[in-house]
Amino acid sequence: MKKHNYSAGPCILPQEVFEKSAQAILNFNDSGLSLLEISHRSKDFVAVMNEARAIVLELLGLEGKGYSALFLAGGASLEFVMAPYNLMKEGGKAAYLDTGTWAAAAIKEAKLFGETVVVASSKEENYNHIPKGYTIPADADYFHCTSNNTIFGTQMKEFPSVDIPLVCDMSSDIFSRELDFSKFDLIYAGAQKNMGPAGTTLIVVKEEILGKNDRIIPSMLDYAKHIKAESMYNTPPVFPVYASLLTLQWLKNLGGIAAIEKINNAKAALLYGEIDRNPLFKGAAAVEDRSNMNATFLLNDEAHAATFDAMWKAAGISGLPGHRSVGGYRASMYNALPLESVQVLVDVMQALEKAI
Ligand SMILES: Cc1ncc(COP(=O)(O)O)c(C=O)c1O
Repeated sequence: MKKHNYSAGPCILPQEVFEKSAQAILNFNDSGLSLLEISHRSKDFVAVMNEARAIVLELLGLEGKGYSALFLAGGASLEFVMAPYNLMKEGGKAAYLDTGTWAAAAIKEAKLFGETVVVASSKEENYNHIPKGYTIPADADYFHCTSNNTIFGTQMKEFPSVDIPLVCDMSSDIFSRELDFSKFDLIYAGAQKNMGPAGTTLIVVKEEILGKNDRIIPSMLDYAKHIKAESMYNTPPVFPVYASLLTLQWLKNLGGIAAIEKINNAKAALLYGEIDRNPLFKGAAAVEDRSNMNATFLLNDEAHAATFDAMWKAAGISGLPGHRSVGGYRASMYNALPLESVQVLVDVMQALEKAI
């Protein structure tokens, strides 16, 4: 039986994506060849890459606005390095908002390149909220933030308006809600949360921000080189790109980001409603900053943990334990998780209340 998969990533993808990807591994486009054994320069794969890059811009509303989409390897973690390498000037500085483990990891890498100003941090409160009211230095080369903090379950609901390039790690909520994506100059996201399997990273970059620092950038870390090579500077991760394309086609057929946002809002309202109603549970993140993707919550009395764990496992739920730095539970409700799965979890929470 298919499990209700709450894994934080790699995570659930639409069933049709699993089926179509499996088919492509056996016989891609009826070619008599597997997707895994053809040249990435073949007509069929070049078409996959081109469509994947185009559908990203279409879904984000960025077509014809000077942006390029790239599917690279190295994970979102490599973008912690590529962003400063490409955008921070020699002797320049960058501004960062510290909202969690991944933001802190990005800051650590940026420091290798130059002055890195942390405009605000919620570290002292174990990242349970998004800091607000901070000032971004106008002379920074860019401002970096993390739209959704996968581990702590917080999500930025608003983004600052800045006159410097706005860079955002959207790994765990890209394509989940409508935003004015044209506010951002560089967006990156590891595929394995809302877009596809692990192995590729999506980069969406406004071309005009590139080529403005005097660093000599190694070719593989140079966004401009990847754009020029149409995301084929070297052999791309063909399978993750193909599966990501299938997920994005699924999203487009569903009605795009506006349609999935409604479903995501319904899922989050259902689960947070129960967390707030049920006297056995409490949410871990500040209410106004709660993530619609990763809901973190705790039992008020840890003594019920063994019973609760046995109950949700018996209901076919998988991947619910929280990250060790928060404890408790984390329900990751990415795009492909159906509303029905959230109802199953809510039913278990209510059954626990009745049982004790
Ligand atoms: C918000 C965020 N940024 C970055 C990363 C790191 O991604 P990767 O493992 O692709 O390097 C993660 C992984 O969970 C994440 O959630």
